[in-house]
Amino acid sequence: MGEIVFTEKQEALVKESWEILKQDIPKYSLHFFSQILEIAPAAKDMFSFLRDTDEVPHNNPKLKAHAVKVFKMTCETAIQLREKGTVVVADTTLQYLGSVHLKSGVLDPHFEVVKEALVRTLKEGLGEKYNEEVEGAWSQAYDHLALAIKAEMKQED
Ligand code: HEM
Repeated sequence: MGEIVFTEKQEALVKESWEILKQDIPKYSLHFFSQILEIAPAAKDMFSFLRDTDEVPHNNPKLKAHAVKVFKMTCETAIQLREKGTVVVADTTLQYLGSVHLKSGVLDPHFEVVKEALVRTLKEGLGEKYNEEVEGAWSQAYDHLALAIKAEMKQED
């Protein structure tokens, strides 16, 4: 893959918006999962903490952990894209991510669902501060991270 151009401005936008969302993890992780299930109701059964409930549970540690991981790792990816022009995830982390998602039955199209849910959550959290530039920066970072996880899942398949 060629060198990726990810600007300082883009990095700053991602970092700033994560700082805002981080202030209310219970709220935004709930919103994030509600969006995932609205877009893809069938995705529910993949998540251990959603399987046996009719509603998205409030203050569930596993739910919060997954939401935080997706946002935080995307933010870290943005930093690496700007610094190094490429995604760097530690091999062990990537192997772990590959196997967890493979085992859970996650498929390539699910990554688009999660991306859309992420974008909607940003919109909700940022209000007037949300714009296409913010969306573009997050999308670009997320796409590169998702690509790395999907590649690992194929290797393990
Ligand atoms: C588990 C990160 C995308 C579904 C996990 C875990 C991490 C993670 C770190 C392990 C959680 C733990 O053991 O504490 C990410 C990142 C993603 C991503 C960074 C995207 C960039 C997705 C997508 C789906 C998904 C697209 C499917 C819609 C799951 C499921 C588990 C899991 C079902 C097992 C959780 C459980 O049942 O407790 N993910 N994930 N993830 N992920 Fe993801």
